[in-house]
Amino acid sequence: MAIREILTVADHQSVLKQKSAPVARVDDALRALMDDMLETMYDAPGIGLAAIQIGVPQRVIVMDLAREGEDPQPRHFVNPEILEASEELFEYEEGCLSVPDIYDAVERPARVRIRYMNYHGETVEEWAEGLYAVCIQHEMDHLEGVLFIDHLSRLKRMRAVAKVKKAVRAA
Ligand code: NI
Repeated sequence: MAIREILTVADHQSVLKQKSAPVARVDDALRALMDDMLETMYDAPGIGLAAIQIGVPQRVIVMDLAREGEDPQPRHFVNPEILEASEELFEYEEGCLSVPDIYDAVERPARVRIRYMNYHGETVEEWAEGLYAVCIQHEMDHLEGVLFIDHLSRLKRMRAVAKVKKAVRAA
């Protein structure tokens, strides 16, 4: 396993705007990628990471929503799809490892029914709600080249990118 560089909007906006391609099959090479992604995410630390955030344009997401003190609960999503979404919306203060230290409220469907392949290549269908629903929709946006700041006003988005760029320059 290896910790990879997480790309941010400071230097890699064009990569992050790419649309990711479907994965043909879950094999050892893909599992190695997912292992690296989880290690990178835990190191950051964060609760979700899409492959494009380490520069790999494939439809792969990792996540761990365990609370502090709980055992790790790594989740892996290959080619995830949203089958159904609730009309009810839920607002959450989101952040993103590719937009470090910026947080803002985004409204999304409160519940989504999703289908994906897991670490073993098995197809899973389930409802996600609460933080799980927020996180999977946020990460699936990455697969389309969309960041959470794209859901904000143009002014807020420009301010966020400028702030991240300034922080990088100061580092
Ligand atoms: Ni993100």
